[in-house]
Amino acid sequence: MPQLSNDHKLEIEKVLTRSPLIPVITIDRLADAVPLCTALYEGGLGVLEITLRTEFGVAAIREVREALPDALVGAGSVTSIAQYREVELAGAQFVITPGVTEAVLEFGVTSEAPLLPGISTASELMMGHIHGYRHFKFFPAEVSGGVAALKALAGPFPDVQFCPTGGIQQHTAVDYLTLRNVAAVGGSWLTPSEKVAAKDWAAITEIARASLLDARQQG
Ligand code: 3PG
Repeated sequence: MPQLSNDHKLEIEKVLTRSPLIPVITIDRLADAVPLCTALYEGGLGVLEITLRTEFGVAAIREVREALPDALVGAGSVTSIAQYREVELAGAQFVITPGVTEAVLEFGVTSEAPLLPGISTASELMMGHIHGYRHFKFFPAEVSGGVAALKALAGPFPDVQFCPTGGIQQHTAVDYLTLRNVAAVGGSWLTPSEKVAAKDWAAITEIARASLLDARQQG
């Protein structure tokens, strides 16, 4: 069975330790990609997950990589190997999937960009664990048991670190960050759609800053 290399483990660890908060970004207008990501970056968020939930995801990754060379820019909501290849070509520095398939797990072992596979059960985690994965997205976090579920998973999987996402807010992020098996927390609360629609980039920077402050005080 193909195994994840130590280099891949270190790379994904680097993503999850650079920032305790990872914005989950959905681009509805391509022109928003660079100013939105710049606003988040200026608010202190150095890791940016741009999802493929709209047709602009891949182009946004390409543009943001060029505009913010010091940020870590990755792709989210990747569900197929074709998409994985496409985002790698666009320059994605990491790839996040909402769930796991055997094919994606195997592809992630040899891919250029390291994979953070999404799981919500012990069985899915075990599918990744046997390939050597030790870092997982826990999704959808809140409806899959939230903090209590992650505490329970620490028992059988003491060597695993999580990035929970799904339903987390600024005031609940801290509850996750206090867990020893949570490396970072992701969410779309950092990019409220009404602020993006209004191009209120200053407000986005402020939300990032305030959220980071909360996360660092408690985490
Ligand atoms: C994700 O893909 O990580 C989640 O959809 C983010 O969840 P949220 O929108 O509830 O923050």
